[in-house]
Amino acid sequence: MTGNIIQLDNNGNLKHFLSTEGLSQSLLQSILDHAESFAGVGERAVKKIPLLRGKTIANLFFEPSTRTRTTFELAAKRLSADILNLNISTSATSKGETLSDTLHTLEAMHCDMFVVRHANSGAAHYIATQVAPHISVINAGDGRHAHPTQAMLDMFTIRRHKKSFENLRVAIVGDILHSRVARSEIHALNTLGVLETRIIAPHTLVPKGVEDLGVQVYNDMDTGLEGIDVIMMLRLQKERMRGALLPSEQEYFQRYGLTSERLAIAKPDAIVMHPGPINRGVEISSEVADGEQSVILQQVSHGIAIRMAVMAMTMGRSNDDMENTE
Ligand code: CP
Repeated sequence: MTGNIIQLDNNGNLKHFLSTEGLSQSLLQSILDHAESFAGVGERAVKKIPLLRGKTIANLFFEPSTRTRTTFELAAKRLSADILNLNISTSATSKGETLSDTLHTLEAMHCDMFVVRHANSGAAHYIATQVAPHISVINAGDGRHAHPTQAMLDMFTIRRHKKSFENLRVAIVGDILHSRVARSEIHALNTLGVLETRIIAPHTLVPKGVEDLGVQVYNDMDTGLEGIDVIMMLRLQKERMRGALLPSEQEYFQRYGLTSERLAIAKPDAIVMHPGPINRGVEISSEVADGEQSVILQQVSHGIAIRMAVMAMTMGRSNDDMENTE
């Protein structure tokens, strides 16, 4: 849906961040490198740098969120930007105002960036085509389509643990059909050059034609976990399911739940990831979610650094600018 034409400006720099699809390996690595340089800000006594001072960012979340909304807010604050959190349930949208009118109203307040989560695939892309040229749009999750900052914080977590991507076998497990995270992960993993990406899911939760994205499909979890370095668990996206795609949650857990016994099939140093929110006893046991190989809470922390990186880059600010502010 999103090529890199609309995401990049005329000089090839990131203008909007709508999808990991179509972006080059060097650009994805640059996001990870920028995030590395921002990661230490949260450990300082004063957790702020003045990189985006004077910029105004609007968080527009038309769907619920805990991690993404709050880490975007913290990221903006750590960059010294002003941030508006539009409460959609109490905004004029609930009185019938169109998305376009809401956007133009916020533009009139001289916003510089919109961070958008929406239930409709393509919403962030549409907004990027509507806004004034100085405004950047960041996709914080659109329908089943994409969740690019989640994918990049996951890539950051993998790079921190495994150093490079080229020898890795990665398994994405669960509800691939409804998952915007899975799509963004697959594009990012392909571009960053992993050895193999597997998806492990029941037939009913595998999107048609997913093999065309270069992944191996496994319906049996025990076979799919053999030799795996990184396990990414996904929750069942019940809010997007129409009809009965699954047996009971108990049966799902028996066949696709990540337990300690199943984790032992993967490589001994495999890491366990989950974008959250997690459903304990449905896709993952508490023992694994809270266990030594789990990096789930690290993913949340890394979300701040990645979102700082993407916000800075879309506003045309770099690591060098940051060093000059220290
Ligand atoms: N991972 C993720 O998008 O979580 P939230 O829905 O809490 O933002």
